[in-house]
Amino acid sequence: MRAVLTAAALLLAVSGCAVPAPAPVDISAKSAAIADRFQTELQAQLQAALTASGPVGAIGVCQQAAPAIAANLSEESGAEVRRIALKERNPAALAEGELRKRLEQLAAAPLDASGKPAAVQWTSGSGRDARAHYLRAIPMKAQPCAACHGTSIAPEVRAKLAELYPLDKASGFKPGDLRGAIVISWPLERH
Ligand code: HEC
Repeated sequence: MRAVLTAAALLLAVSGCAVPAPAPVDISAKSAAIADRFQTELQAQLQAALTASGPVGAIGVCQQAAPAIAANLSEESGAEVRRIALKERNPAALAEGELRKRLEQLAAAPLDASGKPAAVQWTSGSGRDARAHYLRAIPMKAQPCAACHGTSIAPEVRAKLAELYPLDKASGFKPGDLRGAIVISWPLERH
């Protein structure tokens, strides 16, 4: 009996069926919801700051609010949530390696067939390092983005940006360009 069981277990192990395959994880809906919240919360704070103190004052709010919202959403969801760019303002937003390649694909077509920001998904790593990634385009808009990312930024805004971000590359964008993207990375294994 024991021998039969062992043989059966061996057969299962050899055929790769001993461990049930993990159910495919669909991260798109929950990632899209997080991306929506990020955008909504940040734009509300940005708009309030723009109304209260104009673009120069709003720069500081953006600098504080964006990382704080990303940190909150990361903590709440268990995913890593952040913004990245090909031409970045915050040096921490620089996209490298695989992320950069995917971002270049989005830059070629920032909107999907229905006119919404395009999104891509992929997985990387294996075992403990396995992660599922969701990347959604943040297209440039005329309002209110151009004041701080556009082709003709007011001198006082330019000066404040240069003070806070001496290596800033995130100006000169036109409406419809890819300004950046939000990336949400989920661990595929729980520990
Ligand atoms: C008041 C100025 C201001 C306005 C208006 C503004 N931004 Fe920004 N943006 C910033 C600053 C400052 C940062 C860097 C924030 C940081 O330090 O994380 C930034 C960073 C970003 C990033 C993260 C990547 C990077 O380059 O650091 C994206 C994406 C972005 N902005 C998109 C937009 C879009 C889209 C709009 C319009 C809806 C917009 N911004 C409007 C000032 C602005």
